[in-house]
This record gives sequence, C-alpha cells and structure tokens, in this order.
Amino acid sequence: MSSYVTKPTPGDTAWFTHDRFGMFIHFGLYSMPARHEWVKTRERTPEEKYDLYFKHFDPDLYDPKDWARRAKAAGMRYAVFTTKHHEGFCLFDSQYTDYKCTNTPAGRDLTREYVDAFRAEGIHVGFYYSLIDWHHPDFTIDVNHPRRDDPDARQQNEGRDMHRYAKYMRDQITELLTNYGKIDILWLDFSYSHGEGDKAWLGGKGKDDWESEKLIRTARSLQPHIIIDNRAELEQDLWTPEQFQPTDWFRHPKTGELVTWEACQTFSGSWGYYRDEFTWKSPEMLIRMLINTVSNGGNLIMNVGPTARGYLDHRAEEALAVYADWMKYNSRSIYGCTKAEPEFKTPTDCRLTQSEDGKRLYIHLYAYPFDNMKVQGLAGKVEYAQFLHDGSEVKFTDGTVELLSDDKQEDDETATFFYLPHVKPNSLVPVIEVFLK
Ligand code: GLC
Repeated sequence: MSSYVTKPTPGDTAWFTHDRFGMFIHFGLYSMPARHEWVKTRERTPEEKYDLYFKHFDPDLYDPKDWARRAKAAGMRYAVFTTKHHEGFCLFDSQYTDYKCTNTPAGRDLTREYVDAFRAEGIHVGFYYSLIDWHHPDFTIDVNHPRRDDPDARQQNEGRDMHRYAKYMRDQITELLTNYGKIDILWLDFSYSHGEGDKAWLGGKGKDDWESEKLIRTARSLQPHIIIDNRAELEQDLWTPEQFQPTDWFRHPKTGELVTWEACQTFSGSWGYYRDEFTWKSPEMLIRMLINTVSNGGNLIMNVGPTARGYLDHRAEEALAVYADWMKYNSRSIYGCTKAEPEFKTPTDCRLTQSEDGKRLYIHLYAYPFDNMKVQGLAGKVEYAQFLHDGSEVKFTDGTVELLSDDKQEDDETATFFYLPHVKPNSLVPVIEVFLK
C-alpha cells in the first residue's frame, strides 16, 4: 500500500484520487466576444454593450453529448461545468434571476443537458460556481469589477448589499444541489485581496463577504459527500494550484501535511473560448502534465472553452484526441496510481507512478534511452516488466548491466537494468509497467 498519508477531507475524495483526470468546461456569454472570460472587466465593457451578448446568445450547435463522448475517450472521468462565471450569467434555469440562459435565444437549461450527457457516459458531474458576480445589483464594485474606473463607482456602491448577494448565492447553490441529482464536485471561485495604491479603496473579497461558512454548510447539508475546493477562503477538500506545474506533492502551507490537490490548467492561454489566442500546448506537454501531476500524487483537470455556437473547436478536439490516443493504452499508469515510494529513484528524464496497492511501478520515458536504463532501488524487487502500450516484455537484469562492450562503469548492486529496443515505440511517452514481487 502507498505510504503517503493525506489530510482527511470532509467530502468523498476516494473516487476522485483514483480517477485522477477531469475536464473543466468554461462556457458563457464571454464565449461570444471570444477573447477571454474576463473580457468584460478587462475592457470595462458597458452594461448595454454586454447585454448584446445576452440578446444574441444562441448556442444552436450545443451538444454536450459530443463533449461527453470526447471526454470519455480522453480518459477524463469527471467534469466541472461553469454554471455561472464572473459575468453573472447563469447557465441554469434559476428562479432568482432573469439573467439566465433560458431567457436568451438558447431557450434551454444548458446545465441540465450537461448533467444528463456526462452522467450517461458514467462521468462524475461537477459544478463551477463563481463567487464573483459582475452583473448582480448587490455585488459591490471592487478591485476586479468592470465598473471600477467609473467616476461614480463609489456612488454606485451605495445601497449595494453584499448580505443580500450572499443570500442569492446560497439560494442558487440550493437550486443547483437540489434540482440536478447527485453532484460530485462544487468548484467555487475565488477570493482575492484588495488592490494597491489608489485602488486600495476598492477592496477585495473573502470568506466574510461570501459568508462562506453558511454557503458551504448549505452545500454539504444537501450533498454531504460533495467535494469542495478551497477558493471560498475556507479549507475544504481540494487545494487548487492553477496554471503552473507543482513539482512535488502539495502540502498544507501551515502544517506541512500532504493534501488532496488538483492542478487546473488550460489547453491554451484562456479558460473561455479565445479565437485569436495561439499558445496551445504541444501534445508532449499535454501528456507530461498529466503524468507529472499523478507522479506527485495529484489530479489534473484540463479545460475546454466551447465556441458561442456550442461546439468544441478543432484545436480542443485535437488536444482531447492526444489524450485519447495515449490513455487508450496507458491509463493503467494513471488511474489508481500515485507518487512512487521513496525507495525507487526516478531515472533521468523519467517520471514514476505507482499503483495505490504498491504492486505495480510505472516508468514513463520522457527522453528515450539508448539500449538500457538503470533504476536504482529496484534490484531484487522486480518479478516481470513490459511495455504498457503493447504488453511486450522488457527484459532486465539486477546489479549488473549486460553490454556489447567490456568497457563499462554502470554496475550497481541496488539497481535494475532494463533493456529497450533501439527504436522508440510509437507512443508520445512510452511506459514500462513493472510488476513488483
Ligand atoms: C481563475 C480565473 C477564472 C477561471 C479560474 C479557473 O480564477 O480568473 O476565470 O475560471 O481560474 O480555475
């Protein structure tokens, strides 16, 4: 069994840490300007201009069944869908606002169709819900708000009541966790500190503004098993490093305990669909991000930003296909796996994962070695080894390496030497599956 012990979580994270890999879906009115989900605040878009997106929002090609099929093929075993992002637009038929998808030309409950489609594919269903709301009349103008530079911003804040807004959030979370069946993840986003200098008066927002204790109590009263992230400024189940690659198991910043963590990343430089953004990650980077994360005991959630017509553009489809091609043969090194035990030394240009039951070690070859590869700490512990993608045997010796040349300096009594074909297998990252004694 894995020797790594994590801080206990209030929600059910057993399935989560087994399944490892999820799909984030950022969809909303911002998909129409198609230049980042923060477009409204970045461009200080006037309300009447932003309302045009509401008026013309018509994802006529919306087909979450297609998304779910592609997610399943990619090996993504859970999904998190933006039921409301910072813009305040609700992708579900809420009784507490008119600013919702059922009042647009879409005319349908997009969240309902997402839930049904992903559940039908056996994928765990999660909701992203923004704590931030740049449309709600009670949400006070702050350091991130689109109206922060308005000359009368301070006057606009008069009369706004964050207690009313916090109640609105509890009412909507109640709708979301009552009307759509079993929900596995609630992804709240996010708390932030006040601005600097002349913007400091605008302030940030945190757990007291969100009334996070009440909000989370509401969620857990409805779905006690649910996994909740830490961005309402209260530690819950998940720590959520974003847009960077942790290089070790995430630890609690105060106690140093290992925690349950999920890296959230985008295929490109934007969460929402961004037509003219071209920093799309290479196939190698996509696969390595998944392996790196699991090799450090974490989960990875990769984001798609559907177009305003409701479909995934070719770049997102191609990225998902990269995962599908690799996971089809190599998912055994991801599902039910975690960081390898400390006794096994990671060879150069490789990453290790190990099954939770400790019986299988996976060596992911980032740079393909010539002829043989040494793994220290394995001598005497290997029963059998094979390439994971095709199940073909990989021969090995313990302690000494068999070479054509008599001139060698490699022998190491603690190590196992694996002998590899001189041509790299047809796999972005070949994996050696080691069955331990
Ligand atoms: C950041 C972004 C937000 C995105 C979230 C996803 O908070 O500001 O737009 O939804 O990351 O993790």
